[in-house]
Amino acid sequence: MRLFPRTTAWLVLAAPLLTAPAAAQDSGGAQKIDDAQLIERANELFDPIPTDPPELDGNTVTPERVKLGRMLFFDPRLSASHAISCNSCHQMGLGGDDNQPTSIGHGWQRGPRNAPTVFNAVFNSAQFWDGRAEDLEQQAKGPVQASVEMANTPDRAVATLSSMPGYVEQFEAAFPQAEDPVTFDNMAKALEAFQATLLTPNSRFDLYLKGHENALSAKQKRGLEEFMSTGCVGCHNGVNLGGQGYYPFGLIEKPGAEVLPRDDKGRFQVTKTASDNYVFRAAPLRNVAITQPYFHSGKVWSLETAVSLMGISQLGQELSEEEVEEITAFLRSLTGDQPRVEYPVLPESTDATPLPVEFEESPAKR
Ligand code: HEC
Ligand code: HEC
Repeated sequence: MRLFPRTTAWLVLAAPLLTAPAAAQDSGGAQKIDDAQLIERANELFDPIPTDPPELDGNTVTPERVKLGRMLFFDPRLSASHAISCNSCHQMGLGGDDNQPTSIGHGWQRGPRNAPTVFNAVFNSAQFWDGRAEDLEQQAKGPVQASVEMANTPDRAVATLSSMPGYVEQFEAAFPQAEDPVTFDNMAKALEAFQATLLTPNSRFDLYLKGHENALSAKQKRGLEEFMSTGCVGCHNGVNLGGQGYYPFGLIEKPGAEVLPRDDKGRFQVTKTASDNYVFRAAPLRNVAITQPYFHSGKVWSLETAVSLMGISQLGQELSEEEVEEITAFLRSLTGDQPRVEYPVLPESTDATPLPVEFEESPAKR
């Protein structure tokens, strides 16, 4: 696959402007690694994943909300077809995504973008590849209604939930102060609370950050050093190594339409500002080894290829094969303990529960 349409030779000239300080250049293969120093530098740029959810804006992570949110996350009856749940595209056993280039939703339609993982998503400054949802609460209302995802309406979702005493009880427990607990907003709040618990602590990298010098291999340490010195860290930093800022995909060199389809202008669709053409959120890199394929287009299956492509598109640097391998080895150290999520038993449907849309108009309805 030809990832770049044009030659990248001129980029060699631009590269020094973008790379980190010269001290970073001495990352030669056989050199001895000063762990204490590397750990200190890394701690200035990254944070380990905590074991407990953070405080949420306008929501509280109570056990009742988490329990309800978990039921909602797995309930296919929130979709028009009763066939698709959040878990269909954000599978708990597959790193919180679907390992599809782009997801399959209502009527077997493929959506336009790759599904990002929901694990650790609570730490992203905004949700979606273009950041159009401010937080997980706002985000959760999107897929239920999106025609290529669950294709439902808020009214129908609320009618579905209200039709089941099992759910009404759970909403009452989760929102004890509310006069009318079963609402679309509270559904979103519960989904947010549940997703805030989907954290993956204790990755090898996090252990290293905490001072365990043997948690990374020598190759991974060289990869970490290169990740910082070549400038990846300029966009991929913080607790999620990304998920914070927006950058042109192709800051230096725009990838070919094969990887960057020209009809998806990214953040431009949100801000309508010309400079936001093909601007996307720097992808969070936690668990990246298990969330292939890569990029918003989901067109790249190999992590090595993704790394090498980033070198050219974002840094104007053709990374050597060795550098690509080392950086990739480092990225593989970002896989943490996967959440152990118990599959919930869902409340029984009743005669009042709307049928899957396909059967709604059926004369022999009940
Ligand atoms: C048909 C597949 C599909 C279903 C069903 C689905 N999602 Fe998604 N989800 C996606 C895709 C694709 C994106 C990225 C869309 C974009 O960026 O424009 C996404 C994005 C997200 C994100 C943003 C993560 C980030 O880092 O930006 C969260 C959180 C999320 N979905 C949660 C949910 C929840 C909760 C549900 C159920 C109510 C749900 N999804 C149902 C496919 C799906
Ligand atoms: C100027 C900012 C910037 C720099 C520098 C940068 N990236 Fe990225 N990175 C991004 C953006 C933006 C995306 C999302 C692109 C898209 O799919 O639209 C991304 C996506 C990725 C992905 C895909 C993740 C996924 O889940 O799909 C990987 C892997 C990655 N970057 C690694 C790197 C590495 C390694 C470096 C250094 C060689 C690097 N990046 C440098 C901004 C940057």
